[in-house]
Amino acid sequence: MIKRRHKVLLVGDGAVGSSFAYSLLQTTPEVDEVVIVDLNKDKSYGDALDLQDITPLESPTTIRSGEYSDASDADVAVITAGVPRKPGETRLDLVNKNVKILKTIVQPIVDSGFHGIFVVSSNPVDILTTLTQKLSGFPKERVIGTGTSLDSARLNVLLAEKLDVPVSEIDAHIMGEHGDTSFAAFDEATVNGEPLKTATDLTADDYAALEEAVKKRGGEIIAHKGATFYGVAKCLAYIVKAILENRNVTLPISAPLNGEYGVKDLYLGVPAVINTSGIVKVLEHDLSAEESKKMINSAAKMKEVLDGVEL
Ligand code: 2OP
Repeated sequence: MIKRRHKVLLVGDGAVGSSFAYSLLQTTPEVDEVVIVDLNKDKSYGDALDLQDITPLESPTTIRSGEYSDASDADVAVITAGVPRKPGETRLDLVNKNVKILKTIVQPIVDSGFHGIFVVSSNPVDILTTLTQKLSGFPKERVIGTGTSLDSARLNVLLAEKLDVPVSEIDAHIMGEHGDTSFAAFDEATVNGEPLKTATDLTADDYAALEEAVKKRGGEIIAHKGATFYGVAKCLAYIVKAILENRNVTLPISAPLNGEYGVKDLYLGVPAVINTSGIVKVLEHDLSAEESKKMINSAAKMKEVLDGVEL
């Protein structure tokens, strides 16, 4: 049987993009070719050469810099391009600049004849994922945003520290916007398979403090090192691996809501199942009244921002 060639187009070779490529090449032998597209041709050419040097100790993947036309036979187009946050900025502050950039990316990819899956991490990611679907006209399940996968990773780390257990024993999701209106779905969280709320003596103040710490984590990292990239790059690589290897993983991502959680026509952070077809199922947890209110509030904020965007 001839093995299908798996090809990934990466748009944006900044810290997130290059960290994503580095992570993907070390975790996904399925990928045969990675093409890096960036306005800075020197950087993408140099990064391709640098990344080629890991292949003898990894798998024989072709890595090169290229153009949007290389999307024509790609399985996945990963969009990391955009202006990153500066200290003190919110992700929503980036919307006008990054929508302008997104518009210069999506159309040439569509024009190439691309018929794969878009995966977006550029911020504000829920807004840009929603707009990638609108601009491309692609079926909603073939546009995925990293959403609250990064926030959920942060929540799992903080809960593991708080409870002094290995992070692998924690399963907790952040939902809603990847940003200030997100919330932790503590009612559905588990530690070692047991419901968090009955298996621990965490108080309401503990939960509030944990939720706040997750919201602030991105800004805290930026304040110390100027940017964040390893966490979101790992989320991107995990999503792309699930697509290329048809893995049916469940992850809190920016997924298209069409009535789930009372939200329509918007991408927002919810647990969803991903495989080679893209998003195969949005999981609709039975949220408490308080959590449901937070989800509606997050959606309303995203809709307000989207209404202000001129495509
Ligand atoms: C973060 O929270 C990049 O928005 C991303 O680190």
